[in-house]
Amino acid sequence: MRTVEWDPIHQAVQLIDQRQLPGNFTTVSFRDVPALAEAIRAMVVRGAPAIGVTAAFGMALGAYNSNAASVEGLRADLKASAGLLGAARPTAVNLAWALERMLAAAAMPVSSPDELRERMLRMAQQMADEDVETNRRMALIGAELIADGDTIIHHCNTGALAAVDWGTALGCIRMAHEQGKRVHVLVDETRPRLQGARLTAWELGRWGIPYEIITDNAAGYFLRSGQAQKVMFGADRVAANGDVANKIGTYMLALAAHANGVPVFAVMPASSIDLSLANGNCIPIEERDEAEVLDLQVNGQPAAPAGARARNPAFDITPHELLTALVTERGVVYPPFETNLPGIFQATKSRE
Ligand code: MRU
Repeated sequence: MRTVEWDPIHQAVQLIDQRQLPGNFTTVSFRDVPALAEAIRAMVVRGAPAIGVTAAFGMALGAYNSNAASVEGLRADLKASAGLLGAARPTAVNLAWALERMLAAAAMPVSSPDELRERMLRMAQQMADEDVETNRRMALIGAELIADGDTIIHHCNTGALAAVDWGTALGCIRMAHEQGKRVHVLVDETRPRLQGARLTAWELGRWGIPYEIITDNAAGYFLRSGQAQKVMFGADRVAANGDVANKIGTYMLALAAHANGVPVFAVMPASSIDLSLANGNCIPIEERDEAEVLDLQVNGQPAAPAGARARNPAFDITPHELLTALVTERGVVYPPFETNLPGIFQATKSRE
């Protein structure tokens, strides 16, 4: 099933509850926009493309829940929904990108509020379908970069769960595996939310791809000792110069790979690229509750002393100099990114 779906019977947004995995595969339904915004913040659903499409369905939810009797009234309610959903998480630009697309569709001429409600749902469905297609295309392109026999270090979760289906970096690995290449994945645990140990390992197991979980601080050892041929991860936002915001720990991983001459590929849809920001320093970094760090237990006891404080940035910036290439559904982008990244958007425009 898809990570996010519209439930037409209950007019609700249905999500796989990613907080429960790998122990329980459960879905949970949301029938109002504030609850859905909270689900994004609490990471019931997470991963840049997945939260973008969830927000798009949230706009459809907002449209059906609005009592507005006029088109203008409904548009005002939709703006309020977009405000709530957009504030849920700041770093992944896919959230703002999806909401902007929905608001642009809402602004187009329409003859009645009901027609606008239907349009919102149709648009969200279209974005969900596009997401699957985009990720599949990206997987085919990225799989070309993977050689038979590669061991790949992967950070966070970038699989089907991070999108509507397929995913970004993990989608490329899955495609390479389906093409018959022998791949082995070293799965970064990804402290503190353990998206690697919990979600990536679960997905790799389902697909039958061999993997081993490593602690985040073990990656340097494997890279220096020649036990990994590639590093692959996703992106929550890419600036115009190619700097990448991704899950905390990505920067250290890329530094270690670069220092050891191991190629580093960041994989993302064009909707994660934000050409309005000159470089990574302009990307807002979400800082989450310190409890996510301090909740760790060892032998049934809290790992940290009582009263300890923690810092919990959820993302970091990997400077573009450390990246071998950016993989998108529009092709592989090599340095210089500042010149080549806008090129993928122009190439599409001239084809349209
Ligand atoms: O905090 P999360 O789990 O939403 O962070 C997810 C990531 O950092 C992914 O690597 C990123 O969204 C790109 S992959 C779809």
